[in-house]
Amino acid sequence: MKIETITKQHDRKNFDCGHEELNNYLRSTARQSDTKRSTRTWVLVDDDVPTAILGYITLVPSEQDFPEGSKAARTFGKNVPIYRLAKLAVDKNQSGNGFGHLLLTHAIHLAVAASESVGGTGVVVDCKNSDVVGFYMRYTEHFMPISDDGLTLWLPMTVCAKIVNC
Ligand SMILES: CC(C)(COP(=O)(O)OP(=O)(O)OC[C@H]1O[C@@H](n2cnc3c(N)ncnc32)[C@H](O)[C@@H]1OP(=O)(O)O)[C@@H](O)C(=O)NCCC(=O)NCCS
Repeated sequence: MKIETITKQHDRKNFDCGHEELNNYLRSTARQSDTKRSTRTWVLVDDDVPTAILGYITLVPSEQDFPEGSKAARTFGKNVPIYRLAKLAVDKNQSGNGFGHLLLTHAIHLAVAASESVGGTGVVVDCKNSDVVGFYMRYTEHFMPISDDGLTLWLPMTVCAKIVNC
């Protein structure tokens, strides 16, 4: 099993996580966006069949505002630098094998490494629905809701660093 950056060799057509938007992003946008360095997409593959994508993540450096009056808003102000986990998806034939967890851990490692050289206050995810919030909270209860609908979650870089150093 390995996680590597997306290339033309990866079979993007046959990936199906059950969400058309996430399938289409992988098929049509991920590689081009990666080539332009707008985002970075990492795919999980099996050593025996290295072209088949089991799951993927897309990360992008971004900015975030925290809820007015919150401790995070007081601490960091506005337009706060973060790393957005813009996509995370696992092929539906592979669900429940721990690959989502593995990819999330990889994203956190990448964010910590980047923050050590250029800063960044944490990882932000925009959950598609409240079911997915459960997945992130199961990983660590330190994910904090920072939007009114509770679907945008922030994991402070201090927590990310602890996860990486465990
Ligand atoms: C959400 C998703 C990434 C999870 O991937 P996965 O590989 O099946 O998850 P894992 O096997 O790593 O699961 C890790 C843990 O989270 C739990 N979990 C998985 N999905 C969950 C959910 N929706 N709510 C609560 N817990 C969930 C698992 O039961 C498992 O717990 P355990 O370790 O105690 O058994 C995957 O189902 C997926 O791609 N869904 C469609 C796309 C999507 O919604 N992406 C998220 C965009 S924000």
